[in-house]
Amino acid sequence: MTQSIKIAMFDTKPYDSDYFDRVNHDYKYEILSFANRLTEHTARLAEECQVVCAFVNDVVDATVIDQLEKQGVQLIALRCAGYNNVDLKTVHERIHVMRVPDYSPYAVAEHAVSLMLALNRKTHRAYQRVRENNFSITGLMGFDMHGKTAGIIGTGRIGRQVIRILNGFGMNVLAYDAYPNKDAASNDGFEYVSLSDIYAQSDILSLHCPLTKETDHLINAQTLSQMKSKSMIINTGRGRLIDSSALIHALKNGHIGSAGLDVYEEEHDYFFEDFSNSFVTDDTLARLMTFPNVIITSHQAFFTHEALQKIAQTTLQNISDFFSNQPLQNEVCYKACELKCCNKPQQNRCW
Ligand code: NAI
Repeated sequence: MTQSIKIAMFDTKPYDSDYFDRVNHDYKYEILSFANRLTEHTARLAEECQVVCAFVNDVVDATVIDQLEKQGVQLIALRCAGYNNVDLKTVHERIHVMRVPDYSPYAVAEHAVSLMLALNRKTHRAYQRVRENNFSITGLMGFDMHGKTAGIIGTGRIGRQVIRILNGFGMNVLAYDAYPNKDAASNDGFEYVSLSDIYAQSDILSLHCPLTKETDHLINAQTLSQMKSKSMIINTGRGRLIDSSALIHALKNGHIGSAGLDVYEEEHDYFFEDFSNSFVTDDTLARLMTFPNVIITSHQAFFTHEALQKIAQTTLQNISDFFSNQPLQNEVCYKACELKCCNKPQQNRCW
């Protein structure tokens, strides 16, 4: 049966194909790989495919869903953890959606901490200086992370791994989560506090919650003004967690000391693509790139060998579970995610 299943994989890069092709030896699906992102203009490429495999910047809105449904697509297999790019309400009871909930919390957590270390010790500037035969260390002074306070928003898989690493540095860790996990707090040695306390007390604030209606522009002019003076902000969650214009303002007036951004609210226009022979027309992104105390990476926090291996394995297993009528452990359930009223989202199918 598996041989007749066709998968349209969008926004495919050579590294995706490497890992999916290798893992697909065991499944033998027909994978049609497209470099194009999934949009209303490219959805037709999935004609005759039962499955669409989508990534973080593919558009799965009402227009695309209508088109995919008309073409007979039965499953949208996200090869990522976040599902904020899917219109869950519209897709509900029309096309099933699955995701890869935990391919490597270590990859993302370690990248978040690498941004903290680089910003603090100005490694990105030191590297450039030494290449220019400039061995001066003036202006490169950092601070001991030991004894400072880190604030973590979102204590799920990634947030907790960041906490474990920062505890190893001897930092005091405060956290906020809409659904606090008391066992995690006692096992991993951190304390839940209110959002206003986390803003007021954190020397480094790191965002690890999903992008939802509640967290859209969680960090804005008002919340930035509550943050400790000269503090550092790290975002490896989703771009729209931060109002970028407000962040620029806070960086310009010196209230925010530094920012490490692996995600950006308009990243779909640039991230993952090579514009080195062109220029950036997004003035907000261009302004952020001018700050010496800002490091931007191109949504690469997930990008490790282990994570890509697990993404390919879990995505293809999700597809296998779907077509062999197994319970859909990794289904993205509209009722559970948005209405918070699904009793057994993990145990079977959400509809
Ligand atoms: P998770 O689902 O294990 O944890 C998310 C946590 O956020 C949960 O504890 C949840 O209760 C909490 N949360 C939900 N709503 C909240 C709110 N309004 N305020 C505060 N906390 C809230 O997810 P995981 O695996 O830890 O991933 C977190 C996020 O990281 C993902 O949603 C995704 O957007 C992002 N991500 C980024 C990657 C990258 O390469 N930059 C790769 C993978 C994930």
